[in-house]
Amino acid sequence: MKITKICCIGAGYVGGPTMAVIAQKCPHIQVTVVDLNEQRIADWNDPNPENIPIYEPGLSEIVSEARGRNLFFSTDVDKAIDEAQMIFISVNTPTKTYGKGKGMAADLKYIELCARQIAKVAKQNKIVVEKSTLPVRTAEAIKSILDNTGNGVQFQILSNPEFLAEGTAVTDLLNPDRILIGGDTTPEGEEAINALIEVYSNWVSKDRILTTNVWSSELSKLTANAFLAQRISSINAMSELCEKTGANVSEVAKAIGMDSRIGSKFLKASVGFGGSCFQKDILNLVYIAKSYGLSEVADYWEQVIIMNDHQKRRFSNKIVQTLYNTVADKKIAFLGWAFKKDTNDTRESAAIYVADDLINEQARISVYDPKVSQNKMLNDLDYLETRSKQDNANYLNVFDNAYEACKDAHAVAILTEWDEFATYDWKRIYDAMHKPAFIFDGRNILDAKQLEEIGFVYNGIGS
Ligand code: UDX
Ligand code: ADP
Repeated sequence: MKITKICCIGAGYVGGPTMAVIAQKCPHIQVTVVDLNEQRIADWNDPNPENIPIYEPGLSEIVSEARGRNLFFSTDVDKAIDEAQMIFISVNTPTKTYGKGKGMAADLKYIELCARQIAKVAKQNKIVVEKSTLPVRTAEAIKSILDNTGNGVQFQILSNPEFLAEGTAVTDLLNPDRILIGGDTTPEGEEAINALIEVYSNWVSKDRILTTNVWSSELSKLTANAFLAQRISSINAMSELCEKTGANVSEVAKAIGMDSRIGSKFLKASVGFGGSCFQKDILNLVYIAKSYGLSEVADYWEQVIIMNDHQKRRFSNKIVQTLYNTVADKKIAFLGWAFKKDTNDTRESAAIYVADDLINEQARISVYDPKVSQNKMLNDLDYLETRSKQDNANYLNVFDNAYEACKDAHAVAILTEWDEFATYDWKRIYDAMHKPAFIFDGRNILDAKQLEEIGFVYNGIGS
């Protein structure tokens, strides 16, 4: 089947950038991204491409090239489903906050709604592609809904997990390590797989396109995220030991990373990993393992999350302890709120939890982040339901530059590794702070020696 029209349900951090790149690389395919959220679609259609709702380096340029040509953003979900031969599902699958599997299993209600809508609307055969990360065997559930509630047309379900990382979404999409496509081994399944391979081969060489059965593909995505997160928890576990023994975690990471079997990437000790995927996917993995009675497997992976929570808590404790065991009424400046640099996404960001801990100690938090709005920060804190919205607004002040945020502060904490932080005039920041002036570098991006020479009391992770 030759694909000329694609629909993507969900205009979020995965759907938006992925479809923008497909549209750019496949001018012969019409790509329509739909979402129920009218504001989000309006933002994607903003005449100024700088105002699109997701910040990713290079994305606004691609959107301005393809939008209106063969890339469209719309709230008319039914029309887009009806017209497309291939439908990507890129809706969110958060951790369940209620009922069975609460706090662990993935909430599939948005996926199910999509499947039901596709079934209702489709009048011709369609290929349905799971882009969102899903528990193993979700494709089976989608197929069952489509086949049992549809209009008698044929559906092929493919699993095509997205491996892009936020902040580098565009380069990851343009040069993926691999494209993974899981599908049925029936002739119809193979035809669907080939149709998707054709789309990607417009810019990805065929030797990087891997095909598997659906279950392997679904589980590979969870496994990849679990392994990546495990590396961070492993180095973070060593960071605590380094602090006790006088070793330096950056030196340890470099030394082990030169072993080609270990590799040097993803070994940066930090205040803890955030983002929408790692915690959610591991919890999901743990839930799946438990549901098969594999308690050792479940406990093994759960430890990655336990370590990550510990690392965040350890960071806030360290701030309190170092500031003479009290931060009440002290101003503590946060540089960064996003879960990593080059994104405006804050989901599960360590900054949220560290701020919450410190506000419990009645610290006043002043934040500067180059891309995150005050509204988003307050929403993040309100979502924890630790205290009233009014209290959060009283304790959290947001500034549009770092120098103002740090003025009169007792301590500065680096929560995100934005490049600009390393370029600041730290002497100027020091001069405007309370003394002694403390710095807690949760990302190890600043030059400790230089800061100590200025007069800062420096605390990094793992040194
Ligand atoms: C991750 C996976 O990398 C990606 O393949 C998948 O599709 C989605 O989940 P993402 O969460 O966007 O991507 O970003 P990633 O670069 O993996 O970072 C996740 C978190 O780990 C961030 O908070 C980051 O700061 C932290 N991290 C990463 C570290 O603390 N140390 C490291 O060495 C690397
Ligand atoms: P991700 O990081 O996985 O892309 P996001 O939350 O950024 O997650 O994006 C998911 C998007 O999917 C949201 O904009 C949400 O409004 C949209 N969405 C969820 N359910 C549906 C649905 N049934 N139809 C259309 N859009 C949906």
